[in-house]
Amino acid sequence: MANMNEKTRTDTVSRREFLKTSAGLAAATMLAGLGGAEMSGARAFAAAGASAGAGASSHGAGIPSVTLNNGVKMPRLGFGTMTLRGDPGSVADAIALGYRLIDTAMIYNSETAVGEGIQQSGIRREELFITSKLWKTDMGYEQAKKGFQTSLDKLKTDYLDLYLIHRPSGGDWKGSWKAMVELYRAGRIKAIGMSNATLEQMNYLIANGEVKPAVHQIETHAFFQEDKEYAYLKPHGIQMEAWAPLAEGRNGLFTNSTLAGIGKKYGKNNAQVSLRWHYQRGVVAIPRSQQHGHRVENLNIFDFELSDTDMAAIAPMNLHKTQFPEWS
Ligand SMILES: NC(=O)c1ccc[n+]([C@@H]2O[C@H](COP(=O)([O-])OP(=O)(O)OC[C@H]3O[C@@H](n4cnc5c(N)ncnc54)[C@H](OP(=O)(O)O)[C@@H]3O)[C@@H](O)[C@H]2O)c1
Repeated sequence: MANMNEKTRTDTVSRREFLKTSAGLAAATMLAGLGGAEMSGARAFAAAGASAGAGASSHGAGIPSVTLNNGVKMPRLGFGTMTLRGDPGSVADAIALGYRLIDTAMIYNSETAVGEGIQQSGIRREELFITSKLWKTDMGYEQAKKGFQTSLDKLKTDYLDLYLIHRPSGGDWKGSWKAMVELYRAGRIKAIGMSNATLEQMNYLIANGEVKPAVHQIETHAFFQEDKEYAYLKPHGIQMEAWAPLAEGRNGLFTNSTLAGIGKKYGKNNAQVSLRWHYQRGVVAIPRSQQHGHRVENLNIFDFELSDTDMAAIAPMNLHKTQFPEWS
């Protein structure tokens, strides 16, 4: 990013442009392109945002936030960018629609597109919550610092909101954590955490890591509910975050009859029921979509509530095993 004075000037102009363009674009797109159900949902989403802003803490366009164990606020719903490598337009559109948490990683090769999408959106950096992740090839103290800087350069930013060790399955991950603690203390990262860590690794960091992980990002969805992990993280004050919150549609998630039956009562589809389920469990979800209509749908989960009976009906969908064995 440019120096602070230049950035502040740019931000002021960008903010005005953003209000004129992206909010207007979102409203116009919804009015012009969406059917009645989606439009009324969009209105309800805006209303939910307004009330969250007045009461509970909210982020950006009204997505409620959770306060992490270090006081940093994180949106409870975000946008995943795996496979969106050359697609800044999707990121700009997601921001215009109201997503504020953008999840990327060095290994997705999407950081450049995310950086360009953010610039296209014109939104102020401070309104976003950007997550990136350190890949295996950047393990170790020195290499982690280099990897972090490369991510910042691609994203065209001078700090990250959240930085995770992506897959600590080999190499000097403790050295990486030490570097991340230093960057955190220097204010270059607002919160640090883990992804795909073992229980032993989490225990080690809680006891010896100097800074407790704020987030653990893991595979979780209706078919892999990770109840034990959930029960472990909660008392430690570590936020659980779902990757593949829609299981990428595997095992027939988008046509599953249990989810469809629940959704029918509320006029919602299986993706929306799934995302609402994560939300009511207190798990942050980061669904990805290359389709504008799906991005709208995935935001449109704040105008209905799953009953205890609905939640109980989803519990037995748990198959207690990963749907991504190729990544284990
Ligand atoms: N830490 C890790 O190891 C890790 C691993 C995997 C992923 N992640 C992160 O988590 C994010 C989300 O996970 P994911 O991308 O694997 O999978 P996902 O979000 O569970 O599923 C994405 C798939 O669902 C479809 N989809 C999205 N919304 C839909 C809707 N409303 N209706 C029907 N289909 C819909 C998308 O298709 P369309 O594009 O056609 O909408 C896409 O094929 C990633 O993008 C990445 O940021 C992290």
